Parts: sequence; C-alpha cells; structure tokens
Amino acid sequence: MTLDEARQLDASDPLAFARERFSLPEGVIYLDGNSLGALPKAAPAALAEAAERQWGEDLISSWNKHEWIDWPTTIAAKLSPVVGAKPNQLLIADSTSVCLFKLLAAAVRARPGRGTIVTQQANFPTDLYVAQGLADMLGLEVKAVPSGQVSGALDDDTAVVMLTHVDYRSAAVHDMRAINDAAHAAGALAVWDLSHSAGAIELDLDGSGCDLAVGCGYKYLNGGPGSPAFIYVADGLQGELANPLQGWMGHAEPFAFVDDYRPNQGIVRFLTGTPSILAMAALEAGLGTFDGIAMGDVQAKSRKLSRLFVDEVEARCGSEVRLASPRDPAQRGSHIVFAHAEGYAVMQALIARGVIGDFRAPNLMRFGFTPLYTRYPDVVRAAEILTEILEAREWDQPRFRARAKVT
Ligand SMILES: Cc1ncc(COP(=O)(O)O)c(C=O)c1O
Repeated sequence: MTLDEARQLDASDPLAFARERFSLPEGVIYLDGNSLGALPKAAPAALAEAAERQWGEDLISSWNKHEWIDWPTTIAAKLSPVVGAKPNQLLIADSTSVCLFKLLAAAVRARPGRGTIVTQQANFPTDLYVAQGLADMLGLEVKAVPSGQVSGALDDDTAVVMLTHVDYRSAAVHDMRAINDAAHAAGALAVWDLSHSAGAIELDLDGSGCDLAVGCGYKYLNGGPGSPAFIYVADGLQGELANPLQGWMGHAEPFAFVDDYRPNQGIVRFLTGTPSILAMAALEAGLGTFDGIAMGDVQAKSRKLSRLFVDEVEARCGSEVRLASPRDPAQRGSHIVFAHAEGYAVMQALIARGVIGDFRAPNLMRFGFTPLYTRYPDVVRAAEILTEILEAREWDQPRFRARAKVT
C-alpha cells in the first residue's frame, strides 16, 4: 500500500477524530500503546486540578468536597462500556499484580477442598509469580499447561483457572466464553488478566459469564505510568468472596473506627488502603479518551491496522522476519510480534528512527496498534522504515546491542 492509499483509509476512519485527544510528539510513530498508552491531552490539566486546586486549596476537605473517597468506584464506572460490565462490578485499585493476588486468593478461598490453580505456561510472569506465591503460602499446586490444553486440564481439584486473555507476547486471544463455561462445568472459578484486552478489543464481561478479572490502567486505557489497575467481580459473587487483604477502605464503615472488620457489601470490599488520588486523576483522563467511542469500531480498526502491518512487512521484508502472532486477526489482540534473531538491536534501530515498539525476550519485536491514535500511514511508514533498517543492516551497531534495563 502506498502512503497516499493509507491516507485515504484515514479519511474514512470513524475513529480518526480521537487522535486529537492525545499529545504525541511530531515525527514519532508510536507503536507501544500496549505497554504505555500515550498522554491524553486532558491529563496534565486533570493532574493540575487535583494537585493545585483540590489538594493545594481544598486540602483534606477534598475527600468529601471533591468526592475523592468515591473515585475508586466513580472512575471505575467509566470503564463499564469499555469492558462490557455493569458499573457496580468495577473498582479501581492498587496494581495489576496486587489485584490479581486479591482475586486469586479470594477465589481459592471460595472453593475449599480444591488444591489446584490451573494456568497457562508462559503466562505473563507476574501472573505466574503471584499464583506461585499464593500456592506456596496455602499449600496449593499451580498447574501450568500449554495454551490449547487449559479446558482439558480442569478437574474436580481445580479451584481456579487463571489466564491472560490476550497473550503479552504473541497476542493470541483465548475464547473467554468457552473457558468460563469449562471452569464452571468443573466447579471452578475463572480469573482473567485483561491487561492487553481492555481498551483494545471488544469485551463483554457480563455476557461472557465472567467471574473475576483484573487489568492494567496504563496500557490501552491511557492512565499514565504506574496507573492503578481495575478489578471486576461479578455481582453474584460479591457477597460470597472475601478480600484477603482486609483494610479499612474495604470496611462497611471505615469512619466508625471499630476494632472488628466488617466488609462493605459491594465491590468496595475489595479496596484495602487509601486510594492513590493523583494517579486516579490521570486515569480518569485516560478513560475519558473513550468517551463516545464504540468498542466495535476500536476492534475493527485494530484488526485492519494489524493486518495492514503484517501484509506490508511480509511483502517488503520477506523471510528476514517471522510472524510470531496468529495470522487470523480474529485470533489475536491489538499487537503483533515478529521474530528476528537480532530483534533487540533491530528494535533499537527502529526507535532511533522514531518508530517506537518494544522487545520481548528471546527474540520478539512487538508492535502495538492503538486504534484511538494509530493512523494507517503510520503503519505503512513503520513497515518501510523496518525494511530500510533490515536491508542496510542499520541495526548492526554496538549502540543498538547494549541492553537497557527496560526493554
Ligand atoms: C498481562 C500482564 N499482566 C500484568 C502486567 C503488569 O502488572 P503490574 O501492573 O502489576 O506491573 C503486565 C505488564 O505488562 C501484563 O502484560
């Protein structure tokens, strides 16, 4: 595809207007919104409002005056159309890892007598580490099986199935409905990590029979570096599940200051300590980038962008790179990985040319397509630059081989 043809696709793109909601540097093609979403234009003012006016002028009265105390649920409600869940089932809290621990522990406790957490081999490391730590603590077993064998691995000892919906490396997507059904048929609960799904593809948590889920705020939700995470607990389970990290913010009456814990009746019971207000101000601006956006349009554009990138790269680079994501766009999330033996150096050379993706060991170059701000010409240009770098072996320089702490 020529750049002109790509510009025509932009002209008929129903989401083209949304790019205006972001501050992106001139001349940069940002293909890493799956790692850190771009800065929403509204975020700096939202941060200044929360810091300078609310914190600076209204001080502690802001907990009531600006309803900070309710932000974990009121901001979570903005996520409702993005993930297809009733708002009373969503909460902003902690980090993805901590939320995962809370929900996994709560789920295990709700299935007494069952000793196994089933998950997928090569799941995102934090998911595996959280499960392993919990299993060590409670004397459980973590059974990690190949991705296609999860349903077949469930039995009457399975307490919980824990999966990442969109694989962080390959972008392969699990059939959420089928796994939930299989978990329920085995008498188990399912916990989903939606870090690479929320804001990227169309989700219907309520309609897919989901029990529990967590997800990142700082990727496709554009909440900023280290943004708090979100929790989903189906309303039918909220009374039954207990928060393993009991704290005063999850108490039915935090300001009664009584000695004994009595959980809040709703999703708020999954709070622990004081919410991070400044970080939530940024996350609210991030969620605001989805105002008036239909997730069906997001998913459709995601598939078109990633398909275009695969076609352009394969047509230009031939066998120098190998697609390591599912070829069918319906079988993947919103990023693509290409394998190359020198993937790290190639990615650094791309970044030096203004095409920002990232690298995942051992050899994967990862390119994220964020339908709210990635344009079709960006995709074509990124493929062109990748081709130039490979043809000229531009990556073959010591400065591109030196590994940084964050890849
Ligand atoms: C699938 C998945 N889960 C969790 C995380 C990160 O967890 P946390 O937000 O606790 O650092 C990531 C980060 O990339 C991820 O890809």
